[in-house]
Amino acid sequence: MSTHSFELPPAKEYAPYQPGPFRLAMDLHPLNLAEWIEVDEHLPAELAEKQRLLAERHHEVFAALPEAAAGAAETLALLVDHLPARFPQVYHLNGDRLHNRATAETWPLAGSRMHPLELAGRLVQEDLCLMGRDPASGLYRLTGACLCFPSRWRLAEKLGKPLDAIHGPVPGYAAALGAPMNRLFERLKSHKPVWRLNWSVVDDPALFQPIAPAGPDYATNVTAANAGDKLWLRLERQTLRRLAASNDILFTIRIYSRPLSVLAGQPERAAQLAAAIRGLNEEMRLYKSMRPIIGAALAWLDRTAAAGCG
Ligand code: HEM
Repeated sequence: MSTHSFELPPAKEYAPYQPGPFRLAMDLHPLNLAEWIEVDEHLPAELAEKQRLLAERHHEVFAALPEAAAGAAETLALLVDHLPARFPQVYHLNGDRLHNRATAETWPLAGSRMHPLELAGRLVQEDLCLMGRDPASGLYRLTGACLCFPSRWRLAEKLGKPLDAIHGPVPGYAAALGAPMNRLFERLKSHKPVWRLNWSVVDDPALFQPIAPAGPDYATNVTAANAGDKLWLRLERQTLRRLAASNDILFTIRIYSRPLSVLAGQPERAAQLAAAIRGLNEEMRLYKSMRPIIGAALAWLDRTAAAGCG
């Protein structure tokens, strides 16, 4: 039964994959704070999935060090301020209670015993990661997160670590991104937030994907014929903003996961994605666990692209 009588907007369709050789870059865009959070038709299902994960595997999807306390409270306060103003059809603030009309949930705020970062994470489709400056090293490290939809990483393995260590498995990170990222975190201004996109092709539509498939033997059922339905384009829309009071940096991650078949009527996008996959170097193909699926993905995309030329 529907819990609401209004229409949520359709999910956005980002296409960040670029033809040409892969280049590891920050690729940041200025973020208009009105667009900080994205709400769409999948809000009820995704919040229900967060609720399930937080109930069944809390220790895997939520963690916070004591030093995250101020940033967590600030994150919740920002959302409680932003959501009813930006999405009045969905969120309604009544005294100390925030009501979500899309899920029929009501959250008591001041009296809640829930960690503010967890409560914040239960309000929106985005995952929320707090980065705090370690006074000893000056480096930003992950102090807490409500991370229900990880793209093949585990919160417990990254908690407390600085950016370099978090990105240890990303090939080429230290040389291409290490110094610019540390500079960005040092200098980011609270009135100049930023956003970026990331993309992958995966063999699993699950939002909660803490582990990368290993070895060459997975996805053996994916063929050139069925790749449209067996492979998924997984996009991440990420935002970064400095929290003015705590001085922490809040990193949000929003997952958009769609079957490759959404490109069936879009030959140009299929051609772009094929070219972007061809541009990935061997290390990146390995890192993204794409080697076993790349042949089927390219065959399907090439056929889809060619169908548009006829
Ligand atoms: C400007 C900011 C950032 C940039 C440019 C950036 C860049 C990247 C890139 C290029 C990858 C490889 C992804 C792929 O293509 O599959 C990656 C992975 C990752 N990033 Fe970031 N990142 C940023 C901020 C952050 C922050 C703040 C966190 C904190 C949680 C984070 C956590 C991760 C993790 C956990 C991975 C996966 C690492 C693994 O495979 O173990 N990133 N990042």
